[in-house]
Amino acid sequence: ILMSLLLFKSTKLELQVPELPVVALHGKDVALNCSFNHTSPFNLSDVTVFWQLTDTKRSVHGFFMGQDQLTEQAESYANRTSLFPSQLTMGNASLLLRRVAVADEGSYTCFVRVQEYDSAALLLQVAAPYTKPEVTLEPESNLRPGDEVALTCVAYGGYPKADVIWQDGSGRNLTDNITTSVVANEQGLFTMTSVLTVVLEPNSSFSCRLINPLLSEERSIFVTVTGGPVLFP
Ligand SMILES: *[C@@H]1O[C@H](CO)[C@@H](O)[C@H](O)[C@H]1NC(C)=O
Ligand SMILES: *[C@@H]1O[C@H](CO)[C@@H](O)[C@H](O)[C@H]1NC(C)=O
Ligand SMILES: *[C@@H]1O[C@H](CO)[C@@H](O)[C@H](O)[C@H]1NC(C)=O
Ligand SMILES: *[C@@H]1O[C@H](CO)[C@@H](O)[C@H](O)[C@H]1NC(C)=O
Repeated sequence: ILMSLLLFKSTKLELQVPELPVVALHGKDVALNCSFNHTSPFNLSDVTVFWQLTDTKRSVHGFFMGQDQLTEQAESYANRTSLFPSQLTMGNASLLLRRVAVADEGSYTCFVRVQEYDSAALLLQVAAPYTKPEVTLEPESNLRPGDEVALTCVAYGGYPKADVIWQDGSGRNLTDNITTSVVANEQGLFTMTSVLTVVLEPNSSFSCRLINPLLSEERSIFVTVTGGPVLFP
């Protein structure tokens, strides 16, 4: 019994995948790393690899009998996946996923069999930087101190949702009268619109800052509302 236990232990396959979420940029390629130990040499035809979506079990990529097996592959992954065949017999079952989309976000399970088998899951997160925000005023002209004005700050094409922070000229955090909304385009990328309503003081200035939490990236714009010639007639 001891013999067979030892034998079992020595041939047990163990997979390693990243413990922390893998962050991929929208539109770029990403490698989902999955490696396995192997005690004795084996042929490519002895390896079975399946990558699938953890939740739905839909197939992302298959490999057995020495070649890719893609008849079961979910259509959204067509022409976007590959293993590194030359690395497979060295214990590397990593998946290259090309042109990452927001819809790719989620948990992926790597399954490998070489006699023994094991599986492990990793999390893919998608990120996209926002454009530099733009600010528009409503009303646009004839502004005087004491008027109520709405400043609209818009930034496009980012993911995930950004934190939006408004400050006045002295750096005070403005928290009242802010409405922030998020709209996704067909690619899942967000347009963030934040509206600040304030009563103008002479030479009011404001900044609108967006912080993308995944990229730790900050985009900001600084505006001064002078009110034009009407302000000081
Ligand atoms: C994948 O590539 C093949 C061959 O180039 C093409 O016929 C097919 O339409 C592509 N599929 C998708 C979903 O892009
Ligand atoms: C697997 O191979 C790919 C492509 O060569 C490489 O980028 C990756 O670092 C390898 N992973 C491991 C765990 O060796
Ligand atoms: C600004 O105020 C909001 C709401 O109270 C808060 O969530 C945010 O952390 C503050 N930001 C800064 C930079 O102080
Ligand atoms: C918020 O808006 C209300 C009404 O639009 C206004 O009376 C109030 O002064 C605003 N608060 C701040 C801090 O600007």
